[in-house]
Order: sequence, then structure tokens, then C-alpha cells
Amino acid sequence: MRVLGIESSCDETGVAIYDSNQGLMGEELYSQVELHARYGGVVPELASRDHIRKVLPLIDKVLRACPTHEDRPPVDAVAYTAGPGLVGALLVGSSLARSLAFGWGVPSIGVHHMEGHLLSPMLAEEMPGFPFVALLVSGGHTLLVDVKAHGQYTVLGQSLDDAVGEAFDKTAKLMGLPYPGGPELAKLAEQGDATRFDFPRPMLKKPGLDFSFSGLKTSVLLAWQASDQSAQVRTDIAASFQQAVVDTLTVKVKRALKATGHSVVMVAGGVGANKQLRAQLDVACKSVGARACFPPMRLCTDNGAMIAYAGWLRLQRDGLNASYDEPVRARWSLEELR
Ligand code: KG4
Ligand code: ZN
Repeated sequence: MRVLGIESSCDETGVAIYDSNQGLMGEELYSQVELHARYGGVVPELASRDHIRKVLPLIDKVLRACPTHEDRPPVDAVAYTAGPGLVGALLVGSSLARSLAFGWGVPSIGVHHMEGHLLSPMLAEEMPGFPFVALLVSGGHTLLVDVKAHGQYTVLGQSLDDAVGEAFDKTAKLMGLPYPGGPELAKLAEQGDATRFDFPRPMLKKPGLDFSFSGLKTSVLLAWQASDQSAQVRTDIAASFQQAVVDTLTVKVKRALKATGHSVVMVAGGVGANKQLRAQLDVACKSVGARACFPPMRLCTDNGAMIAYAGWLRLQRDGLNASYDEPVRARWSLEELR
């Protein structure tokens, strides 16, 4: 079975084809980073308009790269991100996906963006199967999820305020780093002294698995304002901030592994590309006899491959006749999925 996946929930247009026998057949990604950079953040209306411009040419490109039969539709189904995300941006992907599916006479499947992230490590070879703990860390979400099986998700903990990626982006912005701040701040942190500023590790003293990052952000702001704002201070704050975040995530992951009894944590979402997080979680999990799995870097941030794959898994489970034509939603809990 071959599934075309379309991702358009935020500022990346991602398109890919997943084939159940051959794996990923083609992937295209267009990032709108430059478009939004001058505004310091994603402008929803501009994002929607840009998805319109980019999505069809990208689909055309992946289809051309795949051998097809003239007398058959090029794919067996079309999967699209139905939410959560920016409604206008989601509508672009879903309208096109449903139109193409209608024209080709194949089903369309609305995919939950976070389920796409959560399953994305399984696109890589030699990944363990269910059950596992998922740590989903993106610009919009910070979630610890007990994944018992495909579609059986229990949210163990989440951020009560800013998402981790958002905290990275806002911290970067307040120190004058260019948009998108997260990766820039992480790059800077590699050269900094992570012990120079003793930032709080939020919520660690309390039991439970929820997160809160707004207090940490305020501590950074106060430290930055009280400093001489030199390049060295910026670098050391970046390193100290990153270390506080990574320490917090590491402790919570260990708690989640203990609470569920699972021995694997799958890390996904944009912040999953953070090198320090990858290295530290790897060591911490090994120390408790568990394993941390990460998708390849290119699959950490938003992409079409995870949507094609998540769509394929649902069709494989329920059959091509199942109806998954979801309306788009800005908000959508993972626990509502089956
Ligand atoms: O999953 P994603 O591509 O989009 C959302 O669904 O939000 O995640 C984007 C987020 C942004 O906040 C970005 O700053 C952050 O992931 N990010 C990073 C790194 N790369 C991307 N944060 C920390 N370190 C990185 N290397
Ligand atoms: Zn995402």
C-alpha cells in the first residue's frame, strides 16, 4: 500500500510517499522560516498563503520520483494533518488532500499531528515496537505519553504554560537571537559554560509529570537584564538555560519510565533535534536499564513522512474502507484518538 502524506499545520510544507514494502519513496520539505523571520514569529495568514503556493509543486515532485502505472491511481490513500495547528494552514493541506483523493477515487485520512511525531521514530530501522513512553517536545506541545499500543495513548504529563520549543524560542528572542530561536540558541549553547547561571529546574520538587517553563524564562530575563549583555554572557546563558531544560526533561522521563514500567522512551518533535537532550537522555536511560530512541534529525521537525506513515498505520489496522475524513481542528487531544 502506498500513502501520500501532506503536512501543513504550521510553517513547514511537507510532502512524502510511504510504501508499505519499500518504505519512504520520496520526501519534499519547504520551510517558511525566511518568510516569517522579519516578524520574529509565524504569521498565520502568510503561512496559509505560502502553503497554497508550495504544496502542489511539492506533490508533483514526489509523484514524479515514484514509478506509477498509467491505469491506476498513483497512491492508495492520501493522508493529511487534520490538527492540532493553525486552522488556515491546516485547511490548505486538507482541502487539497481530499480533492486529490476524490479525484483518484482513494480514501483520505486526517492525521493527528502529534501522533505523526509520536510514531515518527518507528520510520527508522531497528526501532522497538509498543509499548513505550513518548516524550513529545515541539514548539506547541510538551507531552509525556504512555503509548500502550497504536491508538492507545494516555497523557502522563504536559506543560502547564509554555511548550519547551516555545521556551527556547522566547529565550532566544529576548537575547536578540534571530528567528527561529531554538536551533540558534542550541548552537550557541555548545560553546557556553552551562554552570555559570544556576537557573531553576521547574517542578522537580513536586511529584507528578507535568512541566512548567515560564518561571525559567523569567529567571533568564532577569539574569540577562542584570548582566552586561556581552556575547560571552549570551553564550553562557544559552548553555545554562539549555542545561536546566534538559535536566528537567531527563528527570521527568525517568519518572515516567518508572511509573509505566516501560523500558523505552521515544523522543519526537522539533526539540528532539537538540544534541544535548539526545546525549543526556541516552546516558540517563541506560543508567536505569532503559533505551532512548530518536528519529533521524530530519524527521524530528515537521515533515510529510510522519503523516504518510501515521496514515498508513491506521489504514493497515482498519482497512481501506474505514472513514478517517477528519475536519481540521486547532486543538485536538491525543487521548481522543482510537
Ligand atoms: O515539531 P516542530 O518542527 O514544530 C511544531 O510542531 O511546533 O518543532 C519546532 C520547535 C521550535 O520551537 C524550535 O525552536 C524547536 O522545535 N527546535 C529546537 C531545536 N531544533 C528545533 N529546540 C532546541 N534545540 C534544537 N536543536
Ligand atoms: Zn510538529
